[in-house]
Amino acid sequence: MNDVIDFRDPAYRTDPYPILARARELAPVHETEFGTYFALRHQDVHALNRDPRLGRDLRAWLAYPMVRPWLAGSALEHVAERWLLGVDGDVHRRLRGAAAAAFDKRATAAMTARIERLVDDFVARLPAHGDFELVSALARPFPLQVILDLLGFDASDELGGRLERWSVEIARSMEPLLGTASRKVISQNLTEMSTWIVDHLGAVRPGLIEQWVEGASRLEREELVPMIVLMIVAGHETTTNLIANGVVALLEHRAELARLVDDPSLVPSAVEELLRFDGPTHVNGRVTLEEISVNGATIPAGRVVLCMLGAANRDPRVFVHPDRLDVSRNPNPHVTFGGGAHYCLGAPLARLEARAALQALLPRLAQSVVKSAQRHDRVNVRGYESVVLGPPS
Ligand code: HEM
Repeated sequence: MNDVIDFRDPAYRTDPYPILARARELAPVHETEFGTYFALRHQDVHALNRDPRLGRDLRAWLAYPMVRPWLAGSALEHVAERWLLGVDGDVHRRLRGAAAAAFDKRATAAMTARIERLVDDFVARLPAHGDFELVSALARPFPLQVILDLLGFDASDELGGRLERWSVEIARSMEPLLGTASRKVISQNLTEMSTWIVDHLGAVRPGLIEQWVEGASRLEREELVPMIVLMIVAGHETTTNLIANGVVALLEHRAELARLVDDPSLVPSAVEELLRFDGPTHVNGRVTLEEISVNGATIPAGRVVLCMLGAANRDPRVFVHPDRLDVSRNPNPHVTFGGGAHYCLGAPLARLEARAALQALLPRLAQSVVKSAQRHDRVNVRGYESVVLGPPS
């Protein structure tokens, strides 16, 4: 089975879905030569994401003592052992509690008008005629500005600059395969972003950071920077790629785009379908805290299990015609936001941003084609480096 899913294979990066489908049918749960396990079927991924016998803290991983010396004292070690995505149990509950209220459905709904205005401004700045590059013009700066505002940073000078570059590199820490060289690059970028954060802490406006520094949700000093890093990176990198993947998918399925243009009330279900069809998050890692049995396989304690969200989202046992894009698909129980204790905290915000962006872009998309699209090389936060759109020539 080891040769079926090869993250380094360019074919996998271009179109992983036929490869994932084959693996899902041949061996829904299987061990790789590195002792890591894949889970590919919807039922298993859904259950594993929620199972308290698995966590996200890599310190429970049997091989961690071998990896740790390469990390020792690095910014990657400092952040990965303290941010929400890398801790479990009571510490996780406390940290998540410090951020949860700002991202619940009510708080997010209160941001609707501001977010719609913001995305309209980005769309208004696109060239009225001719080509434009979607990622740098909207898909990246728009969600970045939203999360910086929420945190309390003044975003005006930062769009299109270093925060975006650092985030792209730090998002690599969520890749399933990380060599020593990548860890060094990630650490370097984490150090630079952390320094930027510390330098700007003194000048924050009212927002989340203020509450974490002196409000009721006060964090330990050494927890503050990892939390802010996670918010900046998770808070825009994924949404950026959802918007880019989604726009390309719609332009490659013109009949579905036409349905959406005719009936914009389908935008919310279209966003769910774009999350499912080619969502940004493909691999959700967990570590077994004890031996577990799943779909006929026994997984010992201390092993990494890669829950393959992209494979589960195309499982024909759950989705009718899973390889078809259907903007009115209902029900749509995709697993793109993960599940259980670590379920994406920003899901309501991501949905709001994606709906607003799609709604605002629809008139332009109806008159556009993809002139060129360049995928980046990551397999987990899957997406595009650049997508040039323009009128048909
Ligand atoms: C399309 C956009 C997004 C997708 C697909 C996505 C996906 C995910 C996934 C798969 C996880 C891990 C869940 C698990 O382990 O079960 C996660 C966690 C998280 N996401 Fe998102 N995310 C998105 C947008 C956002 C936004 C806008 C924010 C805003 C801050 C955000 C903040 C977080 C945080 C803080 C966590 C860690 C939660 C925890 O460990 O308790 N995400 N996200």
